[in-house]
Amino acid sequence: MKKLIAGNWKMNGSLAANQALLQELAGGLPPQRRTDVVVCVPAPYLAQFRALAQTLPELSAIDLGAQDVSPHASGAYTGEVGAAMLKEFGCRYVIVGHSERRQYHGETDALVADKAKIALAAGITPIVCIGETLAEREAGRTEEVVKRQLAAVIHTNGHCISEIVVAYEPVWAIGTGKTATPEEAQAVHAVLRAQLKAATDHADRVKILYGGSMNAANAASLLAQPDIDGGLIGGASLKAPDFLTIVAAADA
Ligand code: 13P
Repeated sequence: MKKLIAGNWKMNGSLAANQALLQELAGGLPPQRRTDVVVCVPAPYLAQFRALAQTLPELSAIDLGAQDVSPHASGAYTGEVGAAMLKEFGCRYVIVGHSERRQYHGETDALVADKAKIALAAGITPIVCIGETLAEREAGRTEEVVKRQLAAVIHTNGHCISEIVVAYEPVWAIGTGKTATPEEAQAVHAVLRAQLKAATDHADRVKILYGGSMNAANAASLLAQPDIDGGLIGGASLKAPDFLTIVAAADA
C-alpha cells in the first residue's frame, strides 16, 4: 500500500514561517516519490497554502489538510468551520478526534464519528485519531479503548469506513519524546486491522498511521511494520529536514 505521511502543525506557524517551511518542503520532495504527503495547517492558513500554490508549482506534490471540522453543515455555530468551507479551500484531508481535542474540548467518540461522517460526505478524507492514555495502558486497557473509539466511527460510517484513514496515537507518546516501540505500535495496528476486516471487505485499503513522537531517527523502524501505513507527525513536521527524512523513510 502507498504510505501516507501527514504533518499536523497544531497551533503553530505564521505567514512568514509557513512560507519558508512550505518552500523548503516543496523544493526537497523527490519527484519520483510514491508516498503521499499532506500538511494539516491551522484553518486561517488554508488560504495561504492555496495562494502559494499559484506561484510555487512544486507545492502540488503536497496535499492540504485541516485539523478539525464542525459536525454541522452550517448555521449558528460560532467559531466552527464547516466541511464545505474546507472543501472550497482545497482540503483533501481533515484530522478528527485528535487526543488534544478529546482532552481539552471534551470531544466524545460519537462526536468524532459524526465529524468523520460529515467530512466523508463533503469528499474530504477524515484522519480519525484514536489512542489510549498512559493510565489506560498501565491498566491493561489499550485494546479495549482503541477498539471502542474505532467502533463508534465504524458504527456511524457503515460501508464508507474503507474511505477513512486511522491514526493510532498513544496519548502518552504525543509531544513527550516517548515513542511506542515498533512492536508495541504494530500490535495495536494489527488489532485495528482485524477490527476493520470484520467491518469491511476493503480493510487492506485503509491506511493506519502511527503518531506520537515519530521523528527522523525512529521513522524507518516504525514504518517497516506490516500494519503501519504511514505517520501523523507533530513536532517534527515543523522542521523541513526532519519531515523530508520521514518521507524518505516511508518511500524506502
Ligand atoms: P508529536 O509528533 O509532536 O509527538 O505529535 C504527534 C501528534 O499529536 C500528531 O497529531
